[in-house]
Amino acid sequence: MPLIPLRTLLDHAAENDYGVAALNVNNMEQIQAIMEAAQETDSPVIIQASRGARSYTNDDYLRHLMLAAAELHPNIPIVMHQDHGNSPATCLSAIENGFTSVMMDGSLSEDGKTPNSYEQNMKVTKEVVIAAHAKGVSVEGEIGCLGGIEDGHGAGLSEDEAKEHLTDPAQAEQFVADTGLDALAVAIGTSHGAYKFAKKPTGDVLRMDVIEEIHNRLPNCHIVMHGSSSLPQELRDIINEFGGDLKPAYGVPVEEIQRGIQHGVRKINVDTDSRLAITGAIRKVFAQKPAEFDPRKYLGPARDAMKEVCKARMIAFGQAGWAGKVPVKSCKELIDFYTK
Ligand code: G3H
Ligand code: 13P
Ligand code: ZN
Repeated sequence: MPLIPLRTLLDHAAENDYGVAALNVNNMEQIQAIMEAAQETDSPVIIQASRGARSYTNDDYLRHLMLAAAELHPNIPIVMHQDHGNSPATCLSAIENGFTSVMMDGSLSEDGKTPNSYEQNMKVTKEVVIAAHAKGVSVEGEIGCLGGIEDGHGAGLSEDEAKEHLTDPAQAEQFVADTGLDALAVAIGTSHGAYKFAKKPTGDVLRMDVIEEIHNRLPNCHIVMHGSSSLPQELRDIINEFGGDLKPAYGVPVEEIQRGIQHGVRKINVDTDSRLAITGAIRKVFAQKPAEFDPRKYLGPARDAMKEVCKARMIAFGQAGWAGKVPVKSCKELIDFYTK
């Protein structure tokens, strides 16, 4: 099956009331983990690479790994997405490298740190929408800023400051009209990484009501939740049991994500949960077999651990069982959709 654009998948998800995990990758084992999970649960998938992932992997390796995934799993619809593109140039180079979807994250300026004005955000997002849609590639934009900072990306907002940068539903409505994007990432109190909330989040810090209001205003808009790892205690425990030092923290409960899916959330970004699973599995091998030096003996268990996380999310978000039913539209076919 060819890689398909995000819009095709999210339209289908909206018609059938499910959400799709968008899972970050940096290497072959992570791609394999996602594809095996998709195969076992019959799920369509969104695979995403950050700028850091693209430079770590090298675009050519990544492209060929994705082609291998598509060739080996002809029954699985796959979206290849640029996560947090910081400029039109980043998004255009992703498109040149075969990505079928890009995020122009104009909520921050090109440095990936400074919050942008509405006008700057609108300008760069619209520029990417015009260029991407001409090739049938989908575009995600973001309005409002997430909390925290992860590997250099993020405004570094404290929990209190982040409350000032939550998405304003009226502005979201304007942004969608001004840009013509396909999916809208919103700030509702989540942040990237392994330290999101100091206690199990309630409605005062995890603002699912903002999602509901955006969905009421924009019932046909596909909403994206970033920073949506759940940080399961059992994954944290494995890391700490085998020499890690993770402080207590809470993530986004799966049941809150499921509630979001009932209110227009269609793409759910998850990276940290995969990182936790991988790290725990590798630590366990090294703790139990200190003499081990065959990479297959620790990368294999790491891949299996990530696969289990991916399967659990695919089932919980409702994408399981839909792989064979997503219409296969290539990017070329979507050009007609965008220009009619
Ligand atoms: O956006 C955050 C994702 O977890 C990607 O992180 O930039 O370290 O690859 P990264
Ligand atoms: P997590 O850090 O919660 O996994 O979020 C990932 C993300 O939003 C990638 O864009
Ligand atoms: Zn993100």
